[in-house]
Amino acid sequence: MTPAERPSTLLNRRGFLALGAGATAALGLAACSSSASPPPQAKVGPTSPLIARAEAARRPAGAVVRPVDLTAQVGELDLGGVQVRTWSFGQLPGKEIRLKRGEVLQAKLSNRLPQPTTIHWHGLALRNDMDGVPDLTQPAVAAGSDFTYEFTVPEAGTFWFHPHVGVQLDRGLYAPLIVEDPADGGDYDTELVIVFDDWLDGTGTDPDAVLANLKQNGMNMGAMPGMDHMGGMPKSDLLGGDAGDVTYPHFLANGRTATAPTSFPGKPGQRIRLRLINAGADTAFRVGVPGVPLRVTHTDGFPTTASGDAEAVLLGMGERIDAVFTVPATGVPVLAIAEGKSGYAQVLVHAGNSRAGTANDSAAELLKKAKVQTVQDFSAAPQVDLKNRAPDVTHDLKLASPGAKYDWTINGKPYDPADGLPVRQRQRVRLRFVNDSDMYHPMHLHGHTFQVRGQNAPGPRKDTVLVLPRRTVEVDFDADNPGQWLTHCHNAYHGESTMMTVVSYVE
Ligand code: C2O
Ligand code: CU
Repeated sequence: MTPAERPSTLLNRRGFLALGAGATAALGLAACSSSASPPPQAKVGPTSPLIARAEAARRPAGAVVRPVDLTAQVGELDLGGVQVRTWSFGQLPGKEIRLKRGEVLQAKLSNRLPQPTTIHWHGLALRNDMDGVPDLTQPAVAAGSDFTYEFTVPEAGTFWFHPHVGVQLDRGLYAPLIVEDPADGGDYDTELVIVFDDWLDGTGTDPDAVLANLKQNGMNMGAMPGMDHMGGMPKSDLLGGDAGDVTYPHFLANGRTATAPTSFPGKPGQRIRLRLINAGADTAFRVGVPGVPLRVTHTDGFPTTASGDAEAVLLGMGERIDAVFTVPATGVPVLAIAEGKSGYAQVLVHAGNSRAGTANDSAAELLKKAKVQTVQDFSAAPQVDLKNRAPDVTHDLKLASPGAKYDWTINGKPYDPADGLPVRQRQRVRLRFVNDSDMYHPMHLHGHTFQVRGQNAPGPRKDTVLVLPRRTVEVDFDADNPGQWLTHCHNAYHGESTMMTVVSYVE
């Protein structure tokens, strides 16, 4: 923020209150400190009648209701020669949920885990009381009990779901959620959905042990399976420095290791729409089809215009892209290289009888040299571009490095569900993610798809954006979905430690 911008930002943030009270003194006070806590305001909580009203406005008359059963359970899974005992929805990834825009998802969660859990529907602008954030939008679903999520699915796109309790995300509790648009299918022949993941659960450690160790030993810890501080942190230029806090023995594509991948029966000349999802907890992936151009069509589910074809795309935790490519005469892998770490995941796309090889180390090397598209290369497609408008309110989120106890914070405070950044319905809101730390953070906002402020052109619509070390990323959204919405780092270990806060609608 330049000094010239600061007063008007504060006036916008506090103008209603300060001017409404007719108190010039209050304004002066506000201008002294952007962190002065606002006067008490009525929060629009998950049980507010405004939530039901927003849902009613979204639900088309006679909307089709799609029932689904999801059992979160403990069991053995085969990752391709690697047997693990883990937590999942019965398979890895969980069975895809696919429905059409405007339909109603009715998902019954049965919790057969030894811990409470929830489901968060990542990327959807759904009703707040179905968002799956414990304490903020619902009590966590106790071990042994059930909860039924029911909401209208408002937008088409590539989404996914996962728990929002502890570091359960770093087990196998995830699946794609695909929302179809009636206009889909014009520019491709078939679809291939791939979920990428970093994996350690059941390999001699588990996510709770990893988190406990990070907290106990802070950043500079000794050796322990799953930890990466022995030989120094992994590094990546693309990520601006540290590439992660945790070492993973495996990287998975659709639940399989790189040496035992799944395959897809492609044909030469066929156009495939990839829907790529990063379900990793601490790993960004560099995705691509070595030697084959990709045309990125969607970022986090929303239509996008790319600056030309891509050789590779950077995909942070929680992010998705859709991209179309044409199958060449020979089989090819769709690869995800663990950025700054060692290893990759893949799905083999065959070209008729021409099969892609299983050992693709040289293809991975090729992708490492590719030019990589990042958020700067994408713009919102005209139909989803948020018309430029001065923000009514701007909130800064300062992302800080942890102290000795691995306590990542936003604005210097640990997460408190009672706390929040106030917004009002119909405001244009700007969030400024100011990264004062030495590591990148994929920052995610629930319940909305913001537009990243591009340097020159309008940026893409997204719900998760990479904020590199010592950089600031600004995003705008329209406050059109009342409730209490979490915004947090999608590194599962950062989020839980507790790089999270609330975008809080107030009346
Ligand atoms: Cu995906 Cu809150 O997250
Ligand atoms: Cu982070």
